[in-house]
Amino acid sequence: MNAFIVLKFGGTSVSTRARWANIAAVARERLREGPVLIVVSALSGMTDRLKALAEAPTEPTSIEIIRQRHLAMANELQVSPECLNPIWSEFDRALEELQRQPGPSAQAALLACGELLSSALGAAFLNREGLATTWRDARQYLCSQAAEHDSEWARFLSAQCVPTLQASVASQWAEESPLSITQGFIARGARGGTVVLGRGGSDTSASYFGALLGASRVEIWTDVPGMFSANPKQVPNARLLRELDYDEAQEIATTGAKVLHPRAINPVREARVPLWIKDTERPELAGTVIGPEVATQRLSVKAVSMRAGITLVSMESIGMWQQVGFLADVFERFKRHGLSVDLISSAETNVTVSLDPSENLLDQRTLTALCEDLAQVCRVKVIAPCVAITLVGRGMRAMMHRLSEVLADIGARRVQLISQSSNNLNLTFVIDASDADGIVERLHRQLVKAGLIGAPGDAVFGPPWNVLLDKAPPPRAQWWRAQREALLALAASTPAYVYAASRIDAAIASVLSIGADRSFYAIKANAHPAVLARIAAGGIGMECVSLGELEHLRAALPELPPERILFTPNFAPRAEYAAALQRGVHVTVDSLYPLQAWPELFAGRAILLRFDLGRGVGHHDKVKTGGGRSKFGLLASEAMLARTAAAAAGATIVGLHAHLGSGETDPNHWRDVYAQLASLAEQFPSVRILDLGGGMGVPYANDDDDLDIDELRASLAHVRTLFAPYEIWIEPGRYLVADGGVLLTRVTQVRRKGDITQVGVDTGMHHLLRPALYDAWHPISNLTRSEEQPAVLCDVVGPICESSDVLGRDRWLANPCEGDVLLIANAGAYGAVMSSHYNLRAPALEVFSDAL
Ligand code: LLP
Repeated sequence: MNAFIVLKFGGTSVSTRARWANIAAVARERLREGPVLIVVSALSGMTDRLKALAEAPTEPTSIEIIRQRHLAMANELQVSPECLNPIWSEFDRALEELQRQPGPSAQAALLACGELLSSALGAAFLNREGLATTWRDARQYLCSQAAEHDSEWARFLSAQCVPTLQASVASQWAEESPLSITQGFIARGARGGTVVLGRGGSDTSASYFGALLGASRVEIWTDVPGMFSANPKQVPNARLLRELDYDEAQEIATTGAKVLHPRAINPVREARVPLWIKDTERPELAGTVIGPEVATQRLSVKAVSMRAGITLVSMESIGMWQQVGFLADVFERFKRHGLSVDLISSAETNVTVSLDPSENLLDQRTLTALCEDLAQVCRVKVIAPCVAITLVGRGMRAMMHRLSEVLADIGARRVQLISQSSNNLNLTFVIDASDADGIVERLHRQLVKAGLIGAPGDAVFGPPWNVLLDKAPPPRAQWWRAQREALLALAASTPAYVYAASRIDAAIASVLSIGADRSFYAIKANAHPAVLARIAAGGIGMECVSLGELEHLRAALPELPPERILFTPNFAPRAEYAAALQRGVHVTVDSLYPLQAWPELFAGRAILLRFDLGRGVGHHDKVKTGGGRSKFGLLASEAMLARTAAAAAGATIVGLHAHLGSGETDPNHWRDVYAQLASLAEQFPSVRILDLGGGMGVPYANDDDDLDIDELRASLAHVRTLFAPYEIWIEPGRYLVADGGVLLTRVTQVRRKGDITQVGVDTGMHHLLRPALYDAWHPISNLTRSEEQPAVLCDVVGPICESSDVLGRDRWLANPCEGDVLLIANAGAYGAVMSSHYNLRAPALEVFSDAL
């Protein structure tokens, strides 16, 4: 006899005739492989209705709605409603019992009717479709086992079974009829009667039957096409996980993924039965296979998950340091209140644990009782609401060195607890719920960039969810694709930075649309004379940070009046302030020192003061310029000292300034800076300008966020109405020039080393430092062969004797050959200006093109 295949269909999969037709089709196909057992949930929404009815068992409308819903379904399926009669009798008995003796036992009997009804309808329909189907009562085969400390609630309403292989049942069923249908969610109590398995119990039932029948596999048919590297609702480009071993799947299910109930894995793991997750709507998709084989030896993070509703209990010992038995004392109390502890972190005199609401029936009363009880042995503090963010992957500890960005991001929030599972499969951070907005998406993106999720060639990762469902945004338009011929002509001599006038013009228009009163271009981003001329002609002023930049600007644009120049130095020597003030440009002072040490320079001058608003923002820690030990800006607590020092020097403070970092894409950032500066300005009656800095980010990778300029404009306009209206200045650098610049380089060598192709080029970290310094990601394309498919996976490397001289790792290029021209995009900002002569290599050319 061939082994059984168990197919499980959830509530939405059994609620329409079309879905039942689909079940019939799947069953028919599987019957070619062997006997089949179908496990079904109640019609969708029915368990909730039955639950409500169990609370108010005499509610006639609820009873009627339940009856009518099933009768309508029978009608839709064109089966006789009589097939439901035996179950209606059971339903009535359960209702009577609930009125006579309410409690978990009677509730379970009522809840079970949902699955009994749907499976009876299903059996009738399948028979009608010509598939001879035997209806089986799951309670005859699954018997619950109560654990010692299980409450009555757990015994009846969250029951567990320990099924073992019963080969005789399998062969008897197969003999009777190749197709059977039964109920998910329900079982027989240890002392008879009906029990239910708790939320998600139908998945668990399917696993139980898989183990009991020694099935060749269990297929869970649901409404998503598998398990993903994050919840697709939060991360639309989360990657399909093609294969998982039981342990990883268990971690992912336990730590937040809703697609499979965590209890469903253990029974199949014990029995070594593979479990598939399939999409009812799209049966052609492969889905996820969870099985006994470890799919890959490659280190990767399989998923980032998030659980909300986490409560932490922090317990401080009031006895002696390292008091013997403290842990035993506190844990005994959790057991007494029937609460299971999830995460633990401990110190000499403190232990903090998390209670997971999915495992605990955590109401305020239970929590209060627990705390009162704990207060006898320790000082208790409850920290809630929190969320737990978990990274799941086999061998987590070995990946720590690649998690620096992730750790930095999480570290910027209020982390209440960190836990690394002893099985080395997960790393969990518990943070305040208020800090959790958007964090899963950010972490997922960082993990992709770090090559820990979905590295090219890692077969575990399938297509992104939005690609599978045809919902992916179209690839970002890349202007240079349409300019291939012109760019190849400009690449006669490489390496060369090429700047496109039309792209810079578009960025100028966008910056002007923000509605600031004045904009100054931070020339440190790109100081090419033609770039400066273009931006100045567009009506934007210039911001410099050194005397060198001021002089360069004077040489490039001798006519530019000092009124349109802003000087914002940091730790510059006295002479630079003196020269700038003498030229009559606007000057920003960012510490007390210049005012106190060189007051004579500032006599009679109007100045701006730069503040550190206590936090930094930006694409990388190294570009954050506020908070912590940042070397920029005055502390808010120094405001009065600065005012006194300026007054003593005879200077007038006309503006306040803050630039907190670079590469920010939250449009509300500048609004928040305005609000903070405006409240600081209450201490400076002479202030009329608020300079909100630069920092406007641009997308580099296809899935990077775009800065929404319309929202930025709207949020600034709004905040202005809330405070006294100040003149707004901004100082964007990157935003004006990043996209308009590309770096053209020629392939010098191509070779295979081990299993990777290395493509050498005539540029490197000496011309474009960003990848080496910030792990920045720039698109790279083979311009020579841009009409061919990118089919070779390579590392693009430079000629510098440093192992960080890598411009891009794991990139797909169209067959790179010596002499081909590669294009590195988004290189207009912080490219040529940051280059060096390292290894005494010559600089790259810079070409400004009016025609592009
Ligand atoms: N204002 C001040 C005072 C600044 O320090 C900066 C940049 C800007 C404005 C312009 O910021 P932007 O709009 O370009 O973000 N090399 C790094 C960026 C360093 C930015 C330094 N300060 C990178 O390549 O990402």
